Amino acid sequence: MTAKMNYDFKDDWLIEQLGFDSRYLGKTEAIMALGNGYMGSRSSEEESYTTEKRDTFVAGTFNQFDENEVTELPNVPDFWKMEMLINGEHLSLEKGEVESYSKTLNLKNGELTRKFIWSYKDIKLELLFSRFVSMARKHYFSSKVEIKNLSKEKVNVQIRSGIDGQMTNSGSQHFTEGEKGLVDGKYMQMMPQTSQSKIDFVLTATHQLKAEHLSERIEMGRRQILMNYFFEIAPNTQAILEKRGSIYTSIDKEVKDSSVKGLRELAVSEMKAVEEKSFSSLLKESEEKWQEIWQKHPIEIHSEDRKDQLAIRFAKYHLHVMTPAHDERMNIGAKGLSGEGYKGHTFWDTEIFMLPYFTFTHPEIAKSLLTYRYLGLDGAHKKAQENGYIGAQYPWEAAWPTDGEVTPVWGAADIITGQATKIWSGFIEQHITSDVAFGVKQYLDVTGDRAFKEEKGYEILLDTAKFWASRLEYNKEKDYYEIKDVIGPDEYKEHIHNNAYTNYTAHWNVNFAIQLAKKLAKSHVELYKKLDEKLDLSTIIPELEKKLPKIFLPTPTKEGIIPQDDTYLEKKILDLTKYKAADGVDSLFHDYNLEQVNEMQITKQADVLLLLLLFEGLFEKELKLKNFEYYEPKTTHDSSLSLSTHAILSADLGKIEESYEFFKKAINIDMGEYMKSSDDGIHAASLGGIWQMVVFGYGGVRMVNGRLRIEPHLPSTWDKLTFGFDYLGESIHVEISKEEMVVTKKENGNNITFWYKNQEITVKNTITILLKEETKQ
Ligand code: BGC
Repeated sequence: MTAKMNYDFKDDWLIEQLGFDSRYLGKTEAIMALGNGYMGSRSSEEESYTTEKRDTFVAGTFNQFDENEVTELPNVPDFWKMEMLINGEHLSLEKGEVESYSKTLNLKNGELTRKFIWSYKDIKLELLFSRFVSMARKHYFSSKVEIKNLSKEKVNVQIRSGIDGQMTNSGSQHFTEGEKGLVDGKYMQMMPQTSQSKIDFVLTATHQLKAEHLSERIEMGRRQILMNYFFEIAPNTQAILEKRGSIYTSIDKEVKDSSVKGLRELAVSEMKAVEEKSFSSLLKESEEKWQEIWQKHPIEIHSEDRKDQLAIRFAKYHLHVMTPAHDERMNIGAKGLSGEGYKGHTFWDTEIFMLPYFTFTHPEIAKSLLTYRYLGLDGAHKKAQENGYIGAQYPWEAAWPTDGEVTPVWGAADIITGQATKIWSGFIEQHITSDVAFGVKQYLDVTGDRAFKEEKGYEILLDTAKFWASRLEYNKEKDYYEIKDVIGPDEYKEHIHNNAYTNYTAHWNVNFAIQLAKKLAKSHVELYKKLDEKLDLSTIIPELEKKLPKIFLPTPTKEGIIPQDDTYLEKKILDLTKYKAADGVDSLFHDYNLEQVNEMQITKQADVLLLLLLFEGLFEKELKLKNFEYYEPKTTHDSSLSLSTHAILSADLGKIEESYEFFKKAINIDMGEYMKSSDDGIHAASLGGIWQMVVFGYGGVRMVNGRLRIEPHLPSTWDKLTFGFDYLGESIHVEISKEEMVVTKKENGNNITFWYKNQEITVKNTITILLKEETKQ
């Protein structure tokens, strides 16, 4: 049997796997993951396989297993598993014959279905499984199985289904066993608590079964509470089992009584309140919520390849499934809520890759994500102090906002020494601090959100600059300030000095803070006073002013190449063809260890090129082209954060065909044919990157020096692109064809100004721009 992905659909909403292969369960578990931002769950099969990775996470519920491990999102007891015995034989697709297997995620409403015919000995059944996590009721999920008997004789069925707390995070058990109980004879409950963070969970599940000769029995095993159902199915008839459940925790914000007793009662009463609703009516409620998401700034791509349209929907689906929009104490993990990879931690991935989607299309969610960084100032102060600095030094990896640094110290095996490789990022990957500031600035430019600015945004922008004031090191000999011993975005270069991306972004952060403080001192005296009291601006700003002109900014060589760091350009060059062509990532490390890679001009992901993209106003096109041509061949794209930057930058540079090739590769990071790509979880940053490639890359939307620019360039296979975004409180709609661009905003409201090819354009209602030359209003 083989499994393969199938995307050839009429309506561009379905992600489908055809054929079953237990070697590749991880792929669809992750790319078909379900969720609603409160919780996320991998789409493991109902029947169990040794190769499965069942994971369900509740955002923000971090727990540290012991002092040798960093805090992580615990894998919550499982609800989806159903053990089925048919005439005493386990239902398993590894035995017997499987026909017409398909597993499908409908992006439109978040429903997962699995269909097949299974024959074993004289049993022949048609099974249809459906499930969803409700977008309408954050704590809820439902599943259903329909079993049709195609055998000649009746079959006896036993189903064991309930709540299974034997889950771990690859061996680390984060929960106490907790109390278990059955309420009113039908609501199973399990109440585990996380071992260190002491978060109480109340898990509730119940079933409804339509079948003949039914009997049932409750079973409580170690960390399990299950119902056993025994029934018969006559030939050509079917049985239907519906299951629904909920999760509440003691950190749920909206819950009044968060004691275990309070949560238990709430869960049961809520369960009773929806008792009369069928699976399909609960699904419909959820679908309506999804509709609201889809209706906000829909994107239509008229491409020769329909996968392009599907990809943007796939990206948006996951961006909403993984984002805890309901609680600003939480942020997005690098794998969302779809796998144990990166432990649910938040990286710079949020500000640089995912946040722009929310800033431009769901500003209230962007605000929540940035409020998390505001709440994280305590953790950032803690980190700065631990390292002998002042101000806000954001952790490379963040969990609960006040935790500070949570990057693990040891990682994958070193192929040469056989020892674990040390992860230095938590110590020396410091560009995250200016990345957060960048995200805040972009949000302010796009939304003009005054309240956020004054209450939180300015403080982040100033406090991060304060960190840089203490971080800059004076080089007496050269008479400049430098930043030594860092890792830049390219994590294949450790302990390097003056990484261009780090220095330029720190310079920007400092410069912006100075201008801001001066402006506030003049025009917002009260606010300035408040911030001065908090941050000691009267001392810090003069210090920053003194240092700013002497911050070392790596300058281009005579060939026009910006050195990635002090020594990069002196290192050996390796032909990367073989590694670039390999399936999956990191194939380089089958031959070399990190120490060796450190000594070669090999770049893991966009580094200098990301700088050129984010700060496009600082650099000439010619220089960008030269750097693109220099660095891209030296880049393995081993990080999923790389390809989208390359796609957008090459589109800007007029290399549209090349850009589209990057686009294709980028959308295939998760959706591609390689079946092992997403085992640890989907790639959140790459999904944010998909939106950016479409809207920033081909739509040509950008904020440059605080000004909106729209300069589209469509790939040759695209006839039309339509999208929308919010700008300064106005809803903008853009329609781009080969010939023209039509920009529309609602008639009432403020006029909007944007730049197109150095021309300032004002939109009152609609404006049409002929893409070749003139403009008509
Ligand atoms: C990348 C980082 C990224 C992290 C989490 C790493 O492989 O190099 O840039 O932040 O993954 O996605």
